[in-house]
Parts: sequence; structure tokens; C-alpha cells
Amino acid sequence: MHSDTASARIPAPATPSAPTWDPQQYLRHAGHRTRPFLDLLNRIPELPTRPARIADLGCGPGNVTALLAERWPEAHITGFDLSPDMLRRADEEYAGQTPGGGSLEFRHGDLAHWLPEEPYDLIVSNAALQWVPSHPGSFPAWINGLRPGGTFAFQIPANFTAPSHALLARLCDAPRWRSRLAGHGARYIHLLEPGDYLDRFVELGCTADTWDTTYHQLLTGTDPVLDWVKGTALRPVLTALGDDRTAVEAFLAEYRDLLREAYPPGPRGTVFPFRRIFAVARKEL
Ligand SMILES: C[S@@+](CC[C@H](N)C(=O)[O-])C[C@H]1O[C@@H](n2cnc3c(N)ncnc32)[C@H](O)[C@@H]1O
Repeated sequence: MHSDTASARIPAPATPSAPTWDPQQYLRHAGHRTRPFLDLLNRIPELPTRPARIADLGCGPGNVTALLAERWPEAHITGFDLSPDMLRRADEEYAGQTPGGGSLEFRHGDLAHWLPEEPYDLIVSNAALQWVPSHPGSFPAWINGLRPGGTFAFQIPANFTAPSHALLARLCDAPRWRSRLAGHGARYIHLLEPGDYLDRFVELGCTADTWDTTYHQLLTGTDPVLDWVKGTALRPVLTALGDDRTAVEAFLAEYRDLLREAYPPGPRGTVFPFRRIFAVARKEL
């Protein structure tokens, strides 16, 4: 589905500090990346009004936003994201009326400042809030923006101590890369644990359900962990190195060798364990 007004809603490239995104690379592992969202969706209760009004924060290329329209066919759903590349892809693939009489639209929005501009039945976010250090501070406003009986639900990766991320952080801080990449590998350190998220939502008067799961993902192909992180954790590094192809190739070669040692391929593929945190908070009726 295509919207003719896409260019009006999709701004020029984001600020230099924001990583650039590559929807095609990100979607290469769509199966493993979609599964946690389906697990989250399974725990979201029925919504208070029909047709429901839904916001998807950090919607990316929109494939997960479209799954919301499958569960709530009449719903009016808006995906918000910072990346023009992701928004363009989402708009081209999914924007417009849905077969159930609802609609999907995609808008530019920075989650660091996003506030509900109208009452929502569901505010949901998949694999995005780890990029927004201030996200727990927004919970009161986001819960406040829900209709009574509405839900706020999110899933975030919580694997910052895994070798994939620890090795990336170490390499970025190594003397030969430090001047260009210091700090670019250390992400997610501002995440809370499931029990802390639970406390926050209970304090806000919600019925809350939080948990974590480690998926033991079996990836196939050559250097599949490198291929995976090229779509996500490596984005700030690739953005910082920009058009310097020599530096990009050198960095990727070093990182690839470290990953090969940490995640040796087995007879059926390469196991890449991945911990994720989930939260579902329902506002009192
Ligand atoms: C890993 S992708 C997840 C995309 C999608 N939710 C999914 O599950 O496939 C993370 C997304 O968060 C977006 N993002 C990161 N920081 C953001 C911010 N401050 N405001 C809005 N979106 C942001 C990125 O542009 C990217 O599209």
C-alpha cells in the first residue's frame, strides 16, 4: 500500500548523532526478530474501544506494525520512528487502508520527546526503547495518554553483556579505534530489569506483567552473528565511520574474527543466544 503524501511526513535525514538504518539489512533476520513481538502480542489483553487507536513507537520498516492490524483489523494505527529510511520503507509497503476497515500510517517522531497527542487504546514498542535512555521517565505521560483499560506494552533486547556486544564495546574502545568510535559499542546500559519495570508500572496504578526470555537462536550462513548485528548494534559504528570504506572493512574484519571465536558454527548452524525483556502494563478501567 502506498501513500501519496509520504514525502510530507518523512523528513530529511536525521540528526548526525542518530545512527542511519538499513531496512533491507535489518529485515534479513525478520523471522527471529518478529518472534518476540508475537510473544508480546499474545500477552496484550483486549483493548477498551473499537475501532482501537494504536501507536507503535519505533516502528522501523513497518512489518511488525502490520501485525497489529492483523490482530485488530479495524484499528487506526500510527507508527512513529526517527529514521527516514525506515519510514520510507514502512510507508511504501504498508501505509493506507487495511482490509478490516482500519488504517496504517507512519510518522516522524523522536521517542525521547514523544507524547500521546490523543487517547490511545494501545501504545506498543518493539525493540526500540533501548535506543532511548530516557524512556522510563516517559512512562507516566504515556500511561496518562491511554484510555482507561488501555495497555502499554514493549519488548527490548537485553543482551548487552553477551559476547556480541561486549566484544563490540571493547573493540570500539581499543587504542586504534578509540578516537573515532569510543562509546559507540556501549549501548543499553540504561535498561532496567523486569522487576524494576514492574515496580514502575505498579506505582503508576497499572496491572503489570514483566518477564525476560533468552532465545537460543540458530542462525545459518557464514558469519551470521556479524550479519545480525550489522542490522542493529553496529549501526552507530557504521554511521560514525561513514563513507570511509577502508576503515569500515578493517573494523568489520577485526570484529568478525572475534565473533567467529565467540560463536563457532556447529553442525546445524551458529547458536546466538539473545535475552529480551518484556513488559505489559494495563491502565485501570
Ligand atoms: C531495531 S529497530 C525495531 C523496529 C521495529 N519496531 C521492529 O520491531 O522491527 C529500532 C527502531 O527504533 C528507531 N529509533 C531509535 N531511536 C529512536 C528515537 N529516539 N525515536 C524514534 N525512533 C527511534 C530506529 O529508527 C529503528 O527503526
